[in-house]
Amino acid sequence: MIKKRHVGVYGQDADAVGEVGSIICGDALKLFLKIDRETGKILDAKFQTFGCASAIASSSALTELIRGKTLEEALQVTNQDIADFLGGLPDQKMHCSVMGREALEAAIANFKGGPVSKEEEGKVICKCFDVTEEKIRKVAIENHLTTVDEITNFTKAGGGCGECRPNIEEILRDIWSLKPPEKPLKPKKLTNLHKIALIQEIIEDEIRPGLQADNGDIELIDIDGNKVMVALRGMCTGCLMADVTIRGIQDKLRELVSEDIVVEAYQ
Ligand code: FES
Repeated sequence: MIKKRHVGVYGQDADAVGEVGSIICGDALKLFLKIDRETGKILDAKFQTFGCASAIASSSALTELIRGKTLEEALQVTNQDIADFLGGLPDQKMHCSVMGREALEAAIANFKGGPVSKEEEGKVICKCFDVTEEKIRKVAIENHLTTVDEITNFTKAGGGCGECRPNIEEILRDIWSLKPPEKPLKPKKLTNLHKIALIQEIIEDEIRPGLQADNGDIELIDIDGNKVMVALRGMCTGCLMADVTIRGIQDKLRELVSEDIVVEAYQ
């Protein structure tokens, strides 16, 4: 499983607290910092996260990356650094790394007694996920994003009712009309640990509930490289459609984890 280091709270003892996201939107992160007021160094960082395994991993990576840094050094940590620390994140989970970076900015603003960052205050473009135009612009420029789907991956904006997608497209056209973006280097591959955790999470959260609704079930038997061995249980055992079910599981894991996943049924 993904290591969850520095989970916890400082309560009243925290020198700075940064809170971002909302449980209603599916992800929330509260970051607590202990800061040496003389040197400005981050002595310790803890977090509480509500969200998926990638949100927890991103929060943990953030605390690892900023401990021992001065506030100025910590502000150089980008959401891509968080994703890279984990060996990469699937495209659909990049918003978890963005949430980490935002919590850091919010905590440092809190320490300095300043206002919340500008992108939290601007005009809301996506009402489903409460995402402002400023945030879309900032994330697009920092991460060289050119399509609405990419914006959805990094901010969730556009991933609900879809009403805001034309507005996002217009913002992107405006940003990149003068100068096309320099595309970032290809992200690093997922580490094995992260890949295993993601597969477990997707089976638990996205595949099992569907099978259980039909009185079936699934058990993850083993993961060996790209080979995922599963056993179908309940009404799925010996079902004539078992091959179709296995293929559906494979398609889902290929879409969300890696294109070279092969799912096999355990006999
Ligand atoms: S308003 Fe953006 S997805 Fe609904």
